[in-house]
Amino acid sequence: MLPTDTPNQNYPIYLDCHSTTPVDKRVAELMLHYMTKAFGNASSIDHSYGDEAEQAVSQAAIHVAKLIRASSKEVIFTSGATESINLAIQGSILEKTTNKTRLCIAVLPIEHKAVLDTCYALAKKGLAEVINLQIDSKGRLDLDHVEKVCASGLSLLCVMAANNEIGNIYPIQEVGKIAQKYNIPFLCDASQAVGKIPINFEEWGITYLAISAHKLYGPKGSGALVVRKGYQLNPILFGGGHQKGLRSGTLNVSGIVGLGEACRLRLLEMEEDEWAISLI
Ligand SMILES: Cc1ncc(COP(=O)(O)O)c(C=O)c1O
Repeated sequence: MLPTDTPNQNYPIYLDCHSTTPVDKRVAELMLHYMTKAFGNASSIDHSYGDEAEQAVSQAAIHVAKLIRASSKEVIFTSGATESINLAIQGSILEKTTNKTRLCIAVLPIEHKAVLDTCYALAKKGLAEVINLQIDSKGRLDLDHVEKVCASGLSLLCVMAANNEIGNIYPIQEVGKIAQKYNIPFLCDASQAVGKIPINFEEWGITYLAISAHKLYGPKGSGALVVRKGYQLNPILFGGGHQKGLRSGTLNVSGIVGLGEACRLRLLEMEEDEWAISLI
């Protein structure tokens, strides 16, 4: 049972967790410490306040990475899945625009607007062409079409892990295999899946994975983009060169800690659920 405050009796029952979830009280308590006591700037590591903040950020990266089976070095913290998706799509397309080849993005047509509108904004500027992957009337993906499109050459393939409106769970492992076979970078928006179903970033051939904290009992305005080692992205925000220059801006330490703690708790509870199910 999630330790949130018991809602006032006048509150209606909340049934919209695809939209957002309450912050787990354990997450909020930890965040409070990093807002009011250990409030240092994670880049000011010449004193103990900065050190503690920097260590908390590193620890959060470990928690995120563990939940989705990635390396903590592959985790870039952002303001949420919308920013993560923008960084992956714009960053990978802008990285390739100098190649003078025709750039093409294939998308599941029922992706979140963060994916669709970013792709169409690039198309409008003439930077990339957008192809819709084929789905049936229930929104299920045609894997043969994915293979056909990948075989013809793509700059980026976008398939979400779970749909926010109709709840479909997509065969990411199969999609990743196809992407790897044709060496196509693969963005998976896993906002609705992380912390709910198992995700294996390392083994499933995903290149970029978008996470949102507020979908898994963490705070709003915090998220991550997991970038497979060896893949280059053009930054879309410029400034102090934070996070290897990929995402400048003073780190939102409490938000990052909140995301990390939410991931740690979800991993723990998913393992407990599995153990409970194994007893039935
Ligand atoms: C599937 C999906 N992708 C992306 C987003 C955007 O996430 P965020 O609110 O963290 O920007 C959402 C949230 O509504 C979502 O459900």
